[in-house]
Amino acid sequence: MATETSVCDVFPLGSRLSERGRLQVGGCDTIELAREFGTPAYVVAEDDLRARARAFLAAGRAAGHDEFHVVFASKAFPCTAVLAVFANEGLWCDVASGGELHLALRAGFSPERIVVHGNAKSEAELRMALRHRVALIVVDNFDEIDRLERLLAEGAATDRSAQPVLVRVTPGVSGDTNAKISTGQADSKFGFVIDQIDRALARMRGVAGLEVRGLHAHIGSQLLTLEPFRATAAALGKLGAFPVWDLGGGLGARYTERQPPPPTIEEYVGAVVQAAHANGLGSGQQLLLEPGRALCANAAVTLYTVESVRRNVSHWVAVDGGMSDNIRPMLYGAVIEAHVADRFHGSTLCALAGKHCESGDVLVREVLLDDPRPGDVVVTPATGAYGYAMASNYNGLPRPPVIFCRDGEARVVARRESFEDLAARDVP
Ligand code: LLP
Repeated sequence: MATETSVCDVFPLGSRLSERGRLQVGGCDTIELAREFGTPAYVVAEDDLRARARAFLAAGRAAGHDEFHVVFASKAFPCTAVLAVFANEGLWCDVASGGELHLALRAGFSPERIVVHGNAKSEAELRMALRHRVALIVVDNFDEIDRLERLLAEGAATDRSAQPVLVRVTPGVSGDTNAKISTGQADSKFGFVIDQIDRALARMRGVAGLEVRGLHAHIGSQLLTLEPFRATAAALGKLGAFPVWDLGGGLGARYTERQPPPPTIEEYVGAVVQAAHANGLGSGQQLLLEPGRALCANAAVTLYTVESVRRNVSHWVAVDGGMSDNIRPMLYGAVIEAHVADRFHGSTLCALAGKHCESGDVLVREVLLDDPRPGDVVVTPATGAYGYAMASNYNGLPRPPVIFCRDGEARVVARRESFEDLAARDVP
């Protein structure tokens, strides 16, 4: 009897192997997607994004905090269609630059659901935030307070009510993650250390037109245990009572079947709410979380085509993308997995290489594939977060399209770049 098989939860929700052994995402056959839209391509199961957004909101309700908001860290997947899905699901949005603010507004987030971040916000970015009267500006350093004071005195805010702000706290908590994405330690480039908080708060309270609403802390990304989040809540609890706590993002994703599953959204939200309550956050006070990766990493896969295969010390399989569409393996030593899209469960030990002119451009150093040949479609799961976001045109590669799949229907939500796009900004 022919049967469909489900695949590991590293893949988007609802992904299956068809009876012919071909990967389907969002009801679409990945071999056909590769044929129709070309490769490399980011393929997103739209329902997966929605399900994770709903899981976060439901977990907040289940944990019993009435004023709970989920703020999508848009840096993880800054594509209008992705943002629009989350806006539509009732999330808020975290932006870390004027460009991200522009995208968030364009995607339909109203300013009263936007949180503005940055350790080096420019005058233009602060003006933009004040002009739109965003929900919260997270103030990072003393120079920013001076700058806000000057801009407010010049009338940069169009709204006459005070601009709500949070103070970014560096709580001295570090999670077990790559140093490049760890932010909670005392020697971080972000925020005020604990013994500067009183002075920062006093200074902010002295600025006409600012309303200090509370505290923010983001200690790092790809965190796989809950203890650091509890420690962060404990650190904030010592700073006094505030109407708003924003505990940042950071919940890790599962990248390979061999990686033990991280805490679930329910476990994470439950633990954070409980720790916030235990450390003084009462009902009526707002609790914000800013997940990026946990909302979108596993919602997407990348499709590639094998271009060449060679054997020396390793069995090299080279595909038509690489560090320009997924810099994470090279930048963080991230370990991901790969499969031939219509022949899972291979046994040939391969090194999956990108096509860039650097020896370091290797997507997976050791992976078992089913004897890949030129023309085969290879899929890497869990590329939804920080893949598209950090893509580049290195070696003149046009950036890949983003394809949304749902109930067997596929639609392009970001088109592939063209060679013309590569020169579009050049002034000869
Ligand atoms: N809030 C703030 C203030 C942040 O700086 C970040 C991430 C987040 C929320 C979302 O964190 P998440 O839930 O996604 O862990 N490019 C790196 C990740 C850098 C994260 C930067 N900040 C990577 O590919 O692993």
